[in-house]
Amino acid sequence: MKFAVIGHPIEHSLSPIMHHANFEALQLDYEYRALNIPPAHFHHIRDIISEYDLDGFNITIPHKERIIPYLDAMTDEAKAIGAVNTVYIDNGRWIGHNTDGLGFVKGLNDYYGDLTNAKILIIGAGGASKGIAYSLSHKTKQPIAVANRTMSRFNDWQFEVETYSLSDVDAIANEYDIIINTTPVGMHESTDQVVSFQQLKKDVLVCDIIYIPAETAFLKSAKVQGYDTYNGLDMFVYQGAESFKFWTGQQANIPVMREHVKQKLYS
Ligand code: ATR
Repeated sequence: MKFAVIGHPIEHSLSPIMHHANFEALQLDYEYRALNIPPAHFHHIRDIISEYDLDGFNITIPHKERIIPYLDAMTDEAKAIGAVNTVYIDNGRWIGHNTDGLGFVKGLNDYYGDLTNAKILIIGAGGASKGIAYSLSHKTKQPIAVANRTMSRFNDWQFEVETYSLSDVDAIANEYDIIINTTPVGMHESTDQVVSFQQLKKDVLVCDIIYIPAETAFLKSAKVQGYDTYNGLDMFVYQGAESFKFWTGQQANIPVMREHVKQKLYS
């Protein structure tokens, strides 16, 4: 089978390395390439993809919403989130799915354990937040809380969450078992933090979906205060594993995928 990731720029994508590591571990003679598609060429997307004879592909920045008009069908996740990171091509029919939130939640579940009764606060209300909130809402009995700088961001959310302003976070943060930063604040060695906390629950898990750097200022300060932390590396790995499952029906070798990505990023 043949797969790809499309984006712009795409040369730094770790998806080909990660998927090839999985194919090799499962002894599959599959291909996975990176295709640079500038926005100005996007209207040729169906022709470009059929030229490569792909069975499926991932979509990354900046095309996750742009792909939607070209699809024949969408999964419930993709519809609720309004963004697509995975397409499966079934006899020429393009089916759009979103594995970003699903990937984060599966990884979190493996790390944290049962999420049924966990009280969770998500910071940020962009595409990543929406995907994570949607997947979590199917995993936990507790209402999901989402805090954002701009409240109008919640206007197009199609499922129930408790909404808060970013300025409320410090006052409510000590009620939560898991807190997740989904904003880009802290990326690429920036020392900024989206919020700072006075006090949290003793056994809280503080998460960031960023994985470059491995530890953002947000996670560093949580660690210094003695809290457990969890970064976004698993989200990347598990979204890839979920895409692979969507395309092939098979379980991916997650430890092998994680190891190859870690080696490339942090060694
Ligand atoms: P993604 O699809 O990666 O989630 P996005 O849709 O651009 O990215 O969303 C980015 C999120 O980070 C938004 O919630 C944004 O808040 P606003 O809705 O108020 O713009 C949040 N964000 C980005 N920069 C921020 C900052 N400096 N402080 C607080 N929130 C920030």
